[in-house]
Amino acid sequence: MNNARNPLIAGNWQMYKGGLQGVELAGALVGIAREVPNVDLVIAPPFTVLAACAHEVEGSSIAIAAQNFYPKNEGAFTGEVSAPMLKDSGCTWVIVGHSERRQYFGETDATVAERVQAAIAAGLEPIVCVGETLAERESGQTLAVVNRQVSAFINLLTHHAVIAYEPVWAIGTGKTAGPNEAEEVHAAIRAQLDKHRSGLGTTTRILYGGSVKADNAAALLACPNVDGALVGGASLDANTFGAIARAAQTLA
Ligand code: PGA
Repeated sequence: MNNARNPLIAGNWQMYKGGLQGVELAGALVGIAREVPNVDLVIAPPFTVLAACAHEVEGSSIAIAAQNFYPKNEGAFTGEVSAPMLKDSGCTWVIVGHSERRQYFGETDATVAERVQAAIAAGLEPIVCVGETLAERESGQTLAVVNRQVSAFINLLTHHAVIAYEPVWAIGTGKTAGPNEAEEVHAAIRAQLDKHRSGLGTTTRILYGGSVKADNAAALLACPNVDGALVGGASLDANTFGAIARAAQTLA
Protein backbone atom coordinates (compact mmCIF):
# COMPACT_ATOMS: atom_id res chain seq x y z
CA MET A 1 0.00 0.00 0.00
CA ASN A 2 1.46 3.40 -0.91
CA ASN A 3 1.46 6.47 1.33
CA ALA A 4 -1.41 8.12 -0.49
CA ARG A 5 -3.47 5.14 0.60
CA ASN A 6 -2.66 5.08 4.29
CA PRO A 7 -5.35 2.96 5.98
CA LEU A 8 -8.32 5.05 7.06
CA ILE A 9 -10.85 3.96 9.66
CA ALA A 10 -13.88 6.23 9.93
CA GLY A 11 -16.64 5.97 12.52
CA ASN A 12 -20.10 7.08 11.43
CA TRP A 13 -21.99 7.65 14.68
CA GLN A 14 -25.26 8.11 12.76
CA MET A 15 -27.96 9.64 15.00
CA TYR A 16 -26.36 8.50 18.25
CA LYS A 17 -24.30 10.14 20.98
CA GLY A 18 -25.24 13.73 20.30
CA GLY A 19 -24.46 15.00 23.80
CA LEU A 20 -22.08 14.35 26.66
CA GLN A 21 -21.81 10.65 25.75
CA GLY A 22 -20.39 11.67 22.40
CA VAL A 23 -17.75 13.88 23.97
CA GLU A 24 -16.81 11.02 26.32
CA LEU A 25 -16.51 8.60 23.40
CA ALA A 26 -14.27 11.03 21.52
CA GLY A 27 -12.11 11.39 24.62
CA ALA A 28 -11.82 7.61 24.99
CA LEU A 29 -10.53 7.33 21.41
CA VAL A 30 -7.58 9.66 21.99
CA GLY A 31 -5.61 6.91 23.75
CA ILE A 32 -6.45 4.43 20.99
CA ALA A 33 -5.17 6.84 18.34
CA ARG A 34 -1.72 6.72 19.95
CA GLU A 35 -1.67 2.92 19.52
CA VAL A 36 -2.32 3.10 15.77
CA PRO A 37 0.20 5.61 14.38
CA ASN A 38 -0.09 4.31 10.81
CA VAL A 39 -3.86 4.53 10.64
CA ASP A 40 -5.85 7.68 9.87
CA LEU A 41 -8.78 7.86 12.28
CA VAL A 42 -11.88 9.91 11.53
CA ILE A 43 -15.05 10.18 13.62
CA ALA A 44 -18.37 11.54 12.38
CA PRO A 45 -20.49 12.62 15.36
CA PRO A 46 -23.90 14.32 15.01
CA PHE A 47 -23.89 18.09 14.37
CA THR A 48 -24.69 18.90 18.01
CA VAL A 49 -21.32 17.65 19.26
CA LEU A 50 -18.98 18.35 16.36
CA ALA A 51 -17.30 21.34 17.97
CA ALA A 52 -17.12 19.70 21.41
CA CYS A 53 -15.62 16.51 19.94
CA ALA A 54 -13.13 18.55 17.88
CA HIS A 55 -12.06 20.26 21.10
CA GLU A 56 -11.83 16.93 22.93
CA VAL A 57 -9.50 15.33 20.35
CA GLU A 58 -7.33 18.41 19.80
CA GLY A 59 -3.65 17.51 19.67
CA SER A 60 -4.43 13.87 18.71
CA SER A 61 -4.38 12.38 15.23
CA ILE A 62 -8.19 11.99 15.19
CA ALA A 63 -9.99 14.06 12.58
CA ILE A 64 -13.62 15.12 12.69
CA ALA A 65 -16.20 14.55 9.95
CA ALA A 66 -19.78 15.66 9.62
CA GLN A 67 -22.39 13.23 8.31
CA ASN A 68 -24.03 15.62 5.86
CA PHE A 69 -24.43 19.32 5.03
CA TYR A 70 -26.36 21.63 2.75
CA PRO A 71 -24.39 22.78 -0.31
CA LYS A 72 -24.85 26.55 0.07
CA ASN A 73 -22.48 28.71 2.08
CA GLU A 74 -25.16 30.57 4.05
CA GLY A 75 -28.64 31.95 3.68
CA ALA A 76 -32.28 31.48 4.55
CA PHE A 77 -32.17 27.69 4.77
CA THR A 78 -33.69 27.06 8.18
CA GLY A 79 -32.45 23.92 9.84
CA GLU A 80 -29.50 23.40 7.51
CA VAL A 81 -25.75 23.51 8.13
CA SER A 82 -23.16 24.60 5.55
CA ALA A 83 -19.68 23.34 4.72
CA PRO A 84 -17.96 26.54 5.97
CA MET A 85 -19.87 26.13 9.26
CA LEU A 86 -18.55 22.59 9.55
CA LYS A 87 -15.03 23.88 9.00
CA ASP A 88 -15.57 26.49 11.71
CA SER A 89 -16.72 23.70 14.03
CA GLY A 90 -13.44 21.83 13.57
CA CYS A 91 -14.40 19.40 10.79
CA THR A 92 -11.91 18.51 8.10
CA TRP A 93 -14.01 15.74 6.54
CA VAL A 94 -17.63 15.16 5.59
CA ILE A 95 -19.55 12.02 4.64
CA VAL A 96 -21.54 12.52 1.43
CA GLY A 97 -24.29 10.39 -0.06
CA HIS A 98 -24.63 7.82 2.73
CA SER A 99 -27.29 5.32 1.69
CA GLU A 100 -29.55 6.50 4.52
CA ARG A 101 -29.43 9.99 3.02
CA ARG A 102 -30.27 8.55 -0.38
CA GLN A 103 -33.00 6.28 1.01
CA TYR A 104 -34.77 8.56 3.52
CA PHE A 105 -33.85 12.12 2.57
CA GLY A 106 -34.18 12.14 -1.18
CA GLU A 107 -30.52 12.40 -2.11
CA THR A 108 -29.74 11.48 -5.68
CA ASP A 109 -26.58 11.10 -7.75
CA ALA A 110 -27.05 14.78 -8.69
CA THR A 111 -27.35 16.10 -5.11
CA VAL A 112 -24.41 13.93 -4.08
CA ALA A 113 -22.30 15.52 -6.84
CA GLU A 114 -23.37 19.01 -5.71
CA ARG A 115 -22.22 18.20 -2.19
CA VAL A 116 -18.91 16.75 -3.33
CA GLN A 117 -18.25 19.97 -5.23
CA ALA A 118 -19.28 22.23 -2.33
CA ALA A 119 -17.28 20.21 0.20
CA ILE A 120 -14.10 20.42 -1.86
CA ALA A 121 -14.68 24.14 -2.51
CA ALA A 122 -14.93 24.72 1.24
CA GLY A 123 -11.76 22.73 1.93
CA LEU A 124 -13.44 19.65 3.39
CA GLU A 125 -12.44 16.15 2.32
CA PRO A 126 -15.53 14.21 1.24
CA ILE A 127 -16.00 10.51 1.96
CA VAL A 128 -18.43 9.71 -0.81
CA CYS A 129 -20.63 6.65 -0.31
CA VAL A 130 -21.87 4.31 -3.02
CA GLY A 131 -23.49 0.89 -2.93
CA GLU A 132 -26.23 -1.30 -4.33
CA THR A 133 -29.48 -2.44 -2.73
CA LEU A 134 -30.27 -6.10 -2.19
CA ALA A 135 -32.64 -6.13 -5.18
CA GLU A 136 -29.92 -4.63 -7.37
CA ARG A 137 -27.38 -7.22 -6.21
CA GLU A 138 -29.80 -10.08 -6.73
CA SER A 139 -30.56 -8.94 -10.26
CA GLY A 140 -26.86 -8.80 -11.12
CA GLN A 141 -26.66 -5.00 -11.32
CA THR A 142 -24.11 -4.36 -8.57
CA LEU A 143 -21.22 -3.21 -10.75
CA ALA A 144 -23.47 -1.18 -13.06
CA VAL A 145 -25.11 0.65 -10.14
CA VAL A 146 -21.83 1.44 -8.43
CA ASN A 147 -20.30 2.53 -11.74
CA ARG A 148 -23.24 4.90 -12.31
CA GLN A 149 -23.00 6.34 -8.79
CA VAL A 150 -19.24 6.92 -9.10
CA SER A 151 -19.65 8.45 -12.58
CA ALA A 152 -21.84 11.18 -11.06
CA PHE A 153 -18.91 12.71 -9.13
CA ILE A 154 -15.78 11.25 -10.75
CA ASN A 155 -14.98 14.51 -12.58
CA LEU A 156 -14.83 16.36 -9.27
CA LEU A 157 -12.38 14.08 -7.49
CA THR A 158 -8.97 15.27 -6.45
CA HIS A 159 -6.04 12.90 -6.18
CA HIS A 160 -6.62 12.19 -2.51
CA ALA A 161 -10.28 11.34 -2.66
CA VAL A 162 -12.06 8.81 -0.47
CA ILE A 163 -14.93 6.63 -1.67
CA ALA A 164 -16.81 4.26 0.64
CA TYR A 165 -18.38 1.18 -0.88
CA GLU A 166 -21.32 0.31 1.35
CA PRO A 167 -23.71 -2.31 0.04
CA VAL A 168 -27.07 -1.08 1.33
CA TRP A 169 -28.11 -4.61 2.35
CA ALA A 170 -25.09 -4.82 4.67
CA ILE A 171 -25.63 -1.59 6.63
CA GLY A 172 -26.84 -2.24 10.16
CA THR A 173 -28.05 -5.71 9.22
CA GLY A 174 -25.18 -7.82 10.53
CA LYS A 175 -24.68 -9.08 6.96
CA THR A 176 -21.31 -8.17 5.50
CA ALA A 177 -20.07 -8.54 2.00
CA GLY A 178 -17.49 -11.31 2.15
CA PRO A 179 -13.93 -10.24 1.38
CA ASN A 180 -14.27 -11.58 -2.19
CA GLU A 181 -17.51 -9.69 -2.82
CA ALA A 182 -16.01 -6.49 -1.41
CA GLU A 183 -12.76 -6.89 -3.34
CA GLU A 184 -14.60 -7.40 -6.63
CA VAL A 185 -16.44 -4.08 -6.30
CA HIS A 186 -13.42 -2.20 -4.93
CA ALA A 187 -11.27 -3.38 -7.83
CA ALA A 188 -13.97 -2.33 -10.29
CA ILE A 189 -14.18 1.17 -8.75
CA ARG A 190 -10.39 1.52 -8.86
CA ALA A 191 -10.31 0.45 -12.51
CA GLN A 192 -13.06 3.00 -13.28
CA LEU A 193 -11.03 5.75 -11.58
CA ASP A 194 -7.86 4.87 -13.46
CA LYS A 195 -9.70 4.72 -16.74
CA HIS A 196 -11.12 8.17 -16.08
CA ARG A 197 -7.82 9.79 -15.17
CA SER A 198 -4.47 8.05 -15.06
CA GLY A 199 -3.25 7.60 -11.48
CA LEU A 200 -6.58 8.52 -9.87
CA GLY A 201 -7.18 4.91 -8.83
CA THR A 202 -3.71 4.60 -7.33
CA THR A 203 -4.23 7.51 -4.95
CA THR A 204 -7.94 7.21 -4.10
CA ARG A 205 -8.77 5.37 -0.89
CA ILE A 206 -11.73 3.03 -1.16
CA LEU A 207 -13.24 2.11 2.21
CA TYR A 208 -15.59 -0.79 2.83
CA GLY A 209 -18.65 -0.20 5.01
CA GLY A 210 -21.58 -2.32 6.15
CA SER A 211 -21.54 -4.30 9.41
CA VAL A 212 -17.78 -4.03 9.88
CA LYS A 213 -17.04 -5.44 13.34
CA ALA A 214 -13.96 -6.32 15.36
CA ASP A 215 -14.15 -9.94 14.21
CA ASN A 216 -14.52 -9.42 10.45
CA ALA A 217 -12.39 -6.30 10.01
CA ALA A 218 -9.03 -8.02 9.49
CA ALA A 219 -10.28 -10.21 6.63
CA LEU A 220 -11.88 -7.26 4.84
CA LEU A 221 -8.92 -4.93 5.40
CA ALA A 222 -6.54 -7.57 4.07
CA CYS A 223 -8.09 -7.28 0.57
CA PRO A 224 -5.65 -5.48 -1.72
CA ASN A 225 -8.20 -2.89 -2.83
CA VAL A 226 -9.77 -2.24 0.58
CA ASP A 227 -8.01 0.79 2.08
CA GLY A 228 -10.01 1.12 5.25
CA ALA A 229 -13.49 0.96 6.71
CA LEU A 230 -16.51 3.15 7.33
CA VAL A 231 -17.90 1.76 10.58
CA GLY A 232 -21.38 2.48 11.92
CA GLY A 233 -22.66 0.50 14.91
CA ALA A 234 -19.25 -0.75 15.98
CA SER A 235 -17.89 2.80 16.13
CA LEU A 236 -20.16 3.64 19.06
CA ASP A 237 -17.96 1.79 21.51
CA ALA A 238 -14.32 2.76 22.03
CA ASN A 239 -13.22 -0.85 22.52
CA THR A 240 -14.77 -2.26 19.36
CA PHE A 241 -13.75 0.75 17.26
CA GLY A 242 -10.28 0.43 18.79
CA ALA A 243 -10.12 -3.25 17.83
CA ILE A 244 -10.94 -2.38 14.20
CA ALA A 245 -8.30 0.37 14.22
CA ARG A 246 -5.74 -2.08 15.64
CA ALA A 247 -6.58 -4.60 12.90
CA ALA A 248 -5.79 -1.87 10.36
CA GLN A 249 -2.56 -0.99 12.17
CA THR A 250 -1.44 -4.64 12.06
CA LEU A 251 -1.92 -4.73 8.29
CA ALA A 252 -0.45 -1.26 7.64
P1 PGA B 1 -22.95 -0.37 10.14
O1 PGA B 1 -23.14 1.08 9.45
O2 PGA B 1 -21.46 -0.54 10.38
O3 PGA B 1 -23.71 -0.26 11.42
O4 PGA B 1 -23.49 -1.38 9.21
C1 PGA B 1 -22.30 1.52 8.42
C2 PGA B 1 -22.58 2.98 8.15
O5 PGA B 1 -23.56 3.54 8.65
O6 PGA B 1 -21.81 3.62 7.42
